[in-house]
Amino acid sequence: MDFRLRGAEAGDVPDILRLVKDLAKYEHMEKEVKLTEKELLEDGFGDTPFYRCIIAEIKGETSSDGPSHAPTEATGVKGAPVVGFAMYYFTYDPWVGKQLYLEEFYVMEQYRGLGVGSQLLRHLSELAISTRCSGMMFVVAESNAPSISFYKRRGAEDLSQEEGWRLFRFDKDSLARMAAPAEE
Ligand code: ACO
Repeated sequence: MDFRLRGAEAGDVPDILRLVKDLAKYEHMEKEVKLTEKELLEDGFGDTPFYRCIIAEIKGETSSDGPSHAPTEATGVKGAPVVGFAMYYFTYDPWVGKQLYLEEFYVMEQYRGLGVGSQLLRHLSELAISTRCSGMMFVVAESNAPSISFYKRRGAEDLSQEEGWRLFRFDKDSLARMAAPAEE
């Protein structure tokens, strides 16, 4: 299979949401995906983009080339089937500076093991180096053993184990409570 990587465009939003949902399903969390195409479009392709994506698509094929890739994947903005993606953004660590944060990383099951994921990571590594990032951060579910091995084989450090960091979140209700004016 011949594939290519490219930056996402606004027209890729339906494919991005499809792959986000696929990854959530893989992690048995599909009910947690609340975002719509409209929000993804506004948040990624508006005046202040909050995320970026690299798209992996099959080279030299369009949806009319035949049924071999139908019906599980859609076609991207150029008409080629989109089979994987990486969603990322930049964060800042006051100790070491810029960091690239890998938020989502997914290749459709029938295209795994062909090097697409490695190429996506290579692309992101080049980007991180060229923008003077000091590292690439990401979170992996404890239950996702294949992915943990995949990252470790490439040198990733498990900071939960090695440095004891714990992942926290204030949900919307907690935020509303903290944001509410104090009662007299
Ligand atoms: N499926 C998966 N891996 C396979 C398969 C297969 N059918 N066959 C072989 N492999 C091996 C490859 O030999 C390779 O081994 P290596 O690590 O020694 O090089 C490795 O598994 C896969 O390498 P690639 O082909 O470059 O990567 P791939 O295109 O399969 O993408 C990815 C990797 C994204 C992790 C993919 O497996 C995937 O989508 N998994 C399910 C979703 C997932 O766990 N995503 C990451 C969540 S964490 C996050 O998003 C930050």
